[in-house]
Amino acid sequence: MTSIRSVVQGVGSYLPKRVMTNEELSQMVDTSDEWIRERSGITQRHIAADDEYTSDLATAAALKAIENAGLSPQDINLIIVATTTPDLTFPSTATIVQEKLGIRDGAAFDIQAVCSGFIYAMHVADSMMKSGLYEHILVIGAETFSRILDWTDRTTCVLFGDGAGAMVLKRAEGGEQGVLNNFIRSDGRHCDLLYVDGGPSRTQTVGKVRMVGKQVFRYAVKDIAGAMRTCVEQAGLDIQEVNWMVPHQANQRILDGVGRQLGLKSEQVISTVALHANTSAASVPLAFDVAVKDGRIKRGDLTLLEAFGGGFTWGATLLRY
Ligand code: ACO
Repeated sequence: MTSIRSVVQGVGSYLPKRVMTNEELSQMVDTSDEWIRERSGITQRHIAADDEYTSDLATAAALKAIENAGLSPQDINLIIVATTTPDLTFPSTATIVQEKLGIRDGAAFDIQAVCSGFIYAMHVADSMMKSGLYEHILVIGAETFSRILDWTDRTTCVLFGDGAGAMVLKRAEGGEQGVLNNFIRSDGRHCDLLYVDGGPSRTQTVGKVRMVGKQVFRYAVKDIAGAMRTCVEQAGLDIQEVNWMVPHQANQRILDGVGRQLGLKSEQVISTVALHANTSAASVPLAFDVAVKDGRIKRGDLTLLEAFGGGFTWGATLLRY
């Protein structure tokens, strides 16, 4: 076994300026602030400007993470962007970010695992770090989910928002800090419970989000709790040793349900869903950044990230910050 560890050297995030409140949404579709708050915990979401693309959000978050790491863009050897809302069908958003950061070296590619994208990207980044070929890997979750919402469908459009979060991983030899374990899963039998009804091959359109919310909810709580337990057990640790849970911000009721199942206190569960809504692959690094910057997550804290999304895909990452 290699002793190489991926240490989170820097974190950063970015939210578009425009805020859309529940009140504003209720002028557009038959919904209410009360319904949205009660069912999801969401009060507002950020929406990208028309000329603001996923790569712009990703680049803004990346620059903050690189600065926070005390590095310059030229120190980055590999960029992985988790997104479901790329600027274009190709090239990858990661290569566009590479260009915007002025990086002329290394490699860049996207990962598509919908809301679990950041966890999948962490697993890939950590595995590639362990190859010994990379020194600094930039992992980004970035979405302009507002672009694939059906703004006439109240069952989906109230739940999502735009944003980006980034981490710079640094190669370390041994030590206590860094990614301790990753666990990812998928089950393609549930493709039709959460999907987009368009794509280059099938419809030559981008498509809109469709979701059977109740079913998604049911699987999410069970699968996330299972993934988190497995991820911690495989690392030879106990869930009670975990200081912080940084969940995918889909719904406050899912966060509460998972936290309860695992016996975590509600203060240990980082929640940004009220202000950010569900930003898909961006939600975990966004929430992580918020909790680092407000001083809750400190160096040395054992932190468990988790996500669940379309596919279904789900997973968890255990790290010591
Ligand atoms: N405003 C007002 N009423 C609404 C709205 C709305 N925005 N949306 C639905 N309703 C109505 C429904 O039509 C239904 O009315 P009816 O009883 O007359 O038929 C009623 O409210 C209840 O609807 P439910 O779907 O049963 O509501 P539920 O309590 O299940 O909450 C929700 C819905 C919030 C979507 C919930 O199921 C959920 O959060 N599911 C999980 C979503 C999720 O986690 N997604 C994560 C992955 S996202 C990704 O990967 C891209």
